[in-house]
Amino acid sequence: MPRFEQDPDPVFWQLNASLSFDRRLAPYDLRQSRAHARALRSAGVLDDAELEQLLGGLDRVEAEIDGGDFAFEPSDEDIHMAIERRLTEIVGRVGGKIHTGRSRNDQVATDLAMFVADRAAVGRELLTACLGRIHALAVQHRDARLPGYTHLQRAQPVSLAHHLLAWFWMLRRDVDRFDAAGAAAAAMPLGSGALAGVNWEIDRQAVAADLGFDRVVENSIDGVSNRDFALDYLSAAAVCATHLSRIGAEIVLWSTSEFGFCRPAEEFSSGSSIMPQKMNPDAAELLRAKAPRVVAALTTLSGVMHGLPLAYSKDLQEDKEPLFDAADTIELCLRALDGMLPGIEFDHGRMAAAAADEMAAATDVADLLVRRGLPFREAHGVVGGLVRHALDADIPLSAIPPGDLADFSDLLDEEYYEVLGEGSWLDSKVSRGGTSAVAVAAQLEIAAGSLAELE
Ligand code: ARG
Repeated sequence: MPRFEQDPDPVFWQLNASLSFDRRLAPYDLRQSRAHARALRSAGVLDDAELEQLLGGLDRVEAEIDGGDFAFEPSDEDIHMAIERRLTEIVGRVGGKIHTGRSRNDQVATDLAMFVADRAAVGRELLTACLGRIHALAVQHRDARLPGYTHLQRAQPVSLAHHLLAWFWMLRRDVDRFDAAGAAAAAMPLGSGALAGVNWEIDRQAVAADLGFDRVVENSIDGVSNRDFALDYLSAAAVCATHLSRIGAEIVLWSTSEFGFCRPAEEFSSGSSIMPQKMNPDAAELLRAKAPRVVAALTTLSGVMHGLPLAYSKDLQEDKEPLFDAADTIELCLRALDGMLPGIEFDHGRMAAAAADEMAAATDVADLLVRRGLPFREAHGVVGGLVRHALDADIPLSAIPPGDLADFSDLLDEEYYEVLGEGSWLDSKVSRGGTSAVAVAAQLEIAAGSLAELE
């Protein structure tokens, strides 16, 4: 005698059903069901023959799903019910035993944790590939220089390798974030039941090991309520997407005619339907634009979790679409970056010409004065005066005649012109992490070591 007398309203059904999106959890649900069936055997709920029947049935369900000929029924509310329904059709009454000691609440939490663990590992893998590409580019362009910018105003010249390594470290931190999400997802909720635990002595640790988890969630209420691992993954993805947006933005900027520092890979660019001369850096633009979507997934799930009383509520069904979309988006973006990096052509001449702007050496002139005993703040003022004079007279800094230098400071002499000599600026940045050839070479090696650890 069923509890309900009325069929669900079609609108309610449409609102409530999750099959359209949670069907991608099928591989996890199947693995989980196999492990659960084995645990039910160990707990004495199933005999050997029943276990074999269930495992055989699950294999067939899997084959149907993989082959694309699994017939979903209108009554399949979600993937968990669809699989169990089909399993029971295949194996008969014994199919009804698979849900012993299990609730969809711990089932869905477990599927999702497995999904996140996989996505976190893929994130790490794709990032590692990108890091390898960036490192290779940095090695390739270790002798190129370009202006470094603050406020998007030319600030100080840097080596291209140095700038590319800034991308490297940015993405290297993302690996740690994905790893942390993977570690958070490595605790198995299964065995929590609906919320209070189950009536069977199931060896949860053994099930966890069977499924590749490294531990079990210690509290059954927490087990079915927790989606932190998804938040952790989304937060890793959001930060990573934000990084990709900055890299994308730089490639877009650098490939403008105004900058002309690089030409994006042709296979990752498009032409214009009307302007035949154009090559648009679409892939880089999309890297730039995808971040808000991934960040939105994080804020969506944060919103779902916010103020939600423990344990399971249907609200938690809303965890999946943002998570799936964010995972697909960040993985696609990382693949795009990986693909486009080797094809970028840098124009060393254009970059060097922009970096030769003498104004960029202003800090170095100030440091010359500091070496001669002037406090840095005063030196900053002296050089400010030189810059204003050069700008007013519309001449480069080095064209201020030696005789006029004393008007600005009596500590200035011929070395002023040496400091302004192109090349000296970059190599004067000898501090660890700085842009001198020596410091960049050291950094390239540290980065290579970090990369080798990942690989
Ligand atoms: N489709 C549900 C979800 O995604 C599965 C869990 C349903 N649990 C329940 N008690 N109705 O969250």
